[in-house]
Amino acid sequence: MKHYLNINNLEDANSTIQEAIKLKKNPFQNSESGKNKTLVMLFFNSSLRTRLSTEKAAKNLGMQVITLNVNDAWNLEFEDGTIMNADASEHIKEMAKVVSQYADVIAVRAFPSLKNKTTDESEFILSSFSKYATVPIVNMESSTAHPLQALTDAITIEELKTKTRPKVVLSWAPHPKALPHAVANSFVNIMHELDVDFSITHPKGYELNPNITKNTPINHNQEEAMKDADFVYIKNWCSYSDYGKIISQDTDWMMTKEKLGKAKFMHCLPARRNVVVEDAVLDNEHSVVIKQANNRTFAAQIILKTILENL
Ligand code: CP
Repeated sequence: MKHYLNINNLEDANSTIQEAIKLKKNPFQNSESGKNKTLVMLFFNSSLRTRLSTEKAAKNLGMQVITLNVNDAWNLEFEDGTIMNADASEHIKEMAKVVSQYADVIAVRAFPSLKNKTTDESEFILSSFSKYATVPIVNMESSTAHPLQALTDAITIEELKTKTRPKVVLSWAPHPKALPHAVANSFVNIMHELDVDFSITHPKGYELNPNITKNTPINHNQEEAMKDADFVYIKNWCSYSDYGKIISQDTDWMMTKEKLGKAKFMHCLPARRNVVVEDAVLDNEHSVVIKQANNRTFAAQIILKTILENL
């Protein structure tokens, strides 16, 4: 693996999951593999889990870590051939090459604007780094993908499943803000790689990109979709067809203890209590969100370890 930009970069998702579970048992077994190597993490957007778990993963491998909130640096220009007489002081071509001299691996978080589908789907920030940087790039959540989160989610399901082929349901939930599709997209991508009975439930109009969902079963009746589910993954996303819009805030889609039944509750966090999910779910033993957040470290660590082995 050179870059980790999306789930497709995993050579074999199932063996990566098994390796991560093994690594979790002894996180310091490769503590020399990142010696004298530096991870530079660039954040265009806020983070709690991704920032701390990726730093912890790198340090478990013996790497040094430098973090920059990009808004603290010069405004960047991404277009080629622009006359830079406005706000942007530095072009991504120089920025990516300069940072590459300080880094052996660069990790980038850059959310979409949710204003222009074509621009967002071009992944121009992540793509510019993979084009102009001279070191591997790790996606810490981009416009359309959050592959570290999805790997985490798959590790969590593998650890907690009690049957060979568990039933996993991805359900939309209401939210006051328009949120990206990245978490849902990558979750769908990785579920397609696993031996699971996978389906999606959401109100009409919240269809994800059909090139990602492909032939995944979709049910517009949440309770029917969740019947006998082993894992229910809750996530809000904005409309894809009416791009970036909130077309429903139907509170009936909030996850409740009663609807969840015996299923395990999953969420990438942060989660708005009593909007996305009621207290009684998050405060119940059926919630695995804290275990999920812990697995962020081991997902990041297996990816960094693989990249280091290929430097
Ligand atoms: N789940 C996730 O990516 O968390 P942060 O946004 O806090 O990094």
